[in-house]
Amino acid sequence: MSKRISIAIDGPAAAGKSTVAKIVAEKLSYIYIDTGAMYRALTYKAIQKNASLEDEASLMEILNNTVIELQPGEKGQLIYLDGLDVTNEIRTSEVTNSVSIVSMHKLVREEMVLRQQSFALNGGVVMDGRDIGTHVLPHAEVKIFLLASVDERAVRRHNENIQKGYPSDLEKLKEEISLRDKLDSEREVAPLKKADDAKEIDTTSLSICQVVDKIMDLAIERIGSK
Ligand code: CDP
Ligand code: CDP
Repeated sequence: MSKRISIAIDGPAAAGKSTVAKIVAEKLSYIYIDTGAMYRALTYKAIQKNASLEDEASLMEILNNTVIELQPGEKGQLIYLDGLDVTNEIRTSEVTNSVSIVSMHKLVREEMVLRQQSFALNGGVVMDGRDIGTHVLPHAEVKIFLLASVDERAVRRHNENIQKGYPSDLEKLKEEISLRDKLDSEREVAPLKKADDAKEIDTTSLSICQVVDKIMDLAIERIGSK
C-alpha cells in the first residue's frame, strides 16, 4: 500500500484553498478538513448565545461544550454543530466578519489545534486553514501556501455570491477581505504566515486545474518517496 501523507494548505481568504483541497483529497481518496469551518462554527454559536467575542473565558465555556463534526456530503463537506447541520449558517457575512476576532484567542486556538490534529493521526489528510503548515501539522509532507491578489480574491467571492443569487458589493468585499487578512496576519498567536518549508503558489492568473496539478505533482513525488 502506498504511503498516506498529510497535505497542509494555508493562505488568505478566497485564495482557492478549499476548492483545490477538496479536489486533491478526492483524487487521492484522502479526507479533507476545513479548519476555517471549525472557527466559523464556534463563532456562529457564540453569536447565537450573545456571548462577547472578546471574552476568551466565555468562548472557552462554549467551545468545551460544543461538538463540531465535518462530514462528506454530496455537494461538499457538511458541518455539524452539536448534531445540527450548520453548513450554510456559518457562511453568513455576520459570521465571516466576526470570525477573526474569535480566532485570535490563544486558548481557543489550542483547543482547535488539538481537535484538528486528532483528525490527522493516520495521515491521508488534506487540511486547509491559516496555521496548518506552521502549527497544526508542522511535519506535513507537503505544505502549500496559496496566494492571489486582493482584487482577484474579491472578484472570486463576488462571482460566487452572484452565482448563488446573493446580494454582493465588490468594493465592500475588497475591504472585508483586506481587514480579515490584516487581523489574521497580525494576531499574536499562530498568525497567517507561510511555513519556511511551504511551496508558495500565486493563483492570481491560474485556473483551479492548474493549481490542483501543481499540488498533485508535489504530493505524488512525496507519496512515491520513502
Ligand atoms: O473561506 P475563507 O478563506 O473565507 O475563510 P475560512 O478558511 O473559512 O476561515 C475563516 C477564519 O477562521 C479566518 O479568517 C481566520 O480568522 C480563522 N482561521 C484561523 O484562524 N485558523 C485556521 N486554521 C483557519 C481559519
Ligand atoms: O478556501 P478559500 O477561501 O481560500 O477559497 P475558495 O472558497 O476555495 O475559492 C474562492 C473562489 O475562487 C471559488 O469560487 C473558486 O471556484 C474560485 N477559484 C478560482 O476562480 N480560481 C482558482 N485558481 C481557485 C479558486
